[in-house]
Amino acid sequence: MSDQPIAKPVLGIESSCDETGVAVYDLERGLLAHRLYSQVRLHAEYGGVVPELASRDHVRKLLPLVRETLAAAGLDVAGLGGVAYTAGPGLIGALLVGAAAARALAWSLEVPAIGVHHMEGHLLAPLLEAEAPQAPFVALLVSGGHSMLIAVDAIGSYRLLGDTLDDAAGEAFDKTAKLMGLPYPGGPQLARLAEQGQSGRFRFSRPMTDRPGLDFSFSGLKTQVLLAWQNSDQSDATRADVARGFEEAMVDTLRIKCLRALEATGAKSLVIAGGVGANRRLRAQLAEAASRQGFRVFFPRPEFCTDNGAMIALAGALRLQAGQLESNAIKVFPRWDLESLSPLHAAV
Ligand code: KG4
Ligand code: ZN
Repeated sequence: MSDQPIAKPVLGIESSCDETGVAVYDLERGLLAHRLYSQVRLHAEYGGVVPELASRDHVRKLLPLVRETLAAAGLDVAGLGGVAYTAGPGLIGALLVGAAAARALAWSLEVPAIGVHHMEGHLLAPLLEAEAPQAPFVALLVSGGHSMLIAVDAIGSYRLLGDTLDDAAGEAFDKTAKLMGLPYPGGPQLARLAEQGQSGRFRFSRPMTDRPGLDFSFSGLKTQVLLAWQNSDQSDATRADVARGFEEAMVDTLRIKCLRALEATGAKSLVIAGGVGANRRLRAQLAEAASRQGFRVFFPRPEFCTDNGAMIALAGALRLQAGQLESNAIKVFPRWDLESLSPLHAAV
């Protein structure tokens, strides 16, 4: 492995679900440009992501977005030193669109391409910020598909400390929003509603905080909310109050488990990543806990908590810099264990 920085910027492509993200990242100059196209409106009428529609829309939007991003970075394709793409986990058709485009572009330019683990992208996203964490740290990864606590011993060296036994945190936000009649995608809307709600009118349990361990379970919380909602007057004010009670239970639970993980590992830094990391209450509560208890907490800016190309360009650039080479085969992994990745000691 070489620790020589790759001389030219890396193009990053994210297409694992319903967002087409493209970015250009340079290891010395940082993020040069990024663009995002969200398919939210396309899927809204179905109440969730329709995989085949997602794949087709990535096909339509990806190349125009690549052109737009390169133009914003003031670059021609010849100025690229590598191409990174999300290789998994995610929807197989959607992943294949990004992988095929990335491999073809890299092959034609005679530069390396690299498949990035989507969740590694998320957990390295705080490195896009001026104040970046240094390993070792604990990461809370909370997205639509995952709720994990991870010990990051070095970049690429990940130990799973806790996982969800049922619904992911973002999934719980989305399902809870849906059961109270909020349109898709419900998570961010539920969070906005919660800000107007009254604290204390509805109190739900903090699942699995009454026993040791770092795993999560959110499906019972969702059921509690369903019962409370069904037995209420179902007014707008009540919806906001229930949303507030749900969000407080969720955020308290995540905070308690983060503090436990820091204690268990002895780490002094915490990283929050993934879509739910954009939640304002979560960010405020963890910032307050950090200043009270003397650890540091790092968040990506909200737009880099949710899916984006910048995190993929960054993670790919670090792997290429560390000398990771792959064959030209177009491979994607709808399921992919984060712990199976190789450590990047050269890049830390
Ligand atoms: O990381 P992400 O964009 O996609 C996945 O990889 O899953 O996360 C999307 C998830 C959705 O479940 C969405 O409801 C949730 O993140 N989310 C939020 C907020 N913004 C996005 N949940 C709570 N509060 C928010 N502000
Ligand atoms: Zn994601």
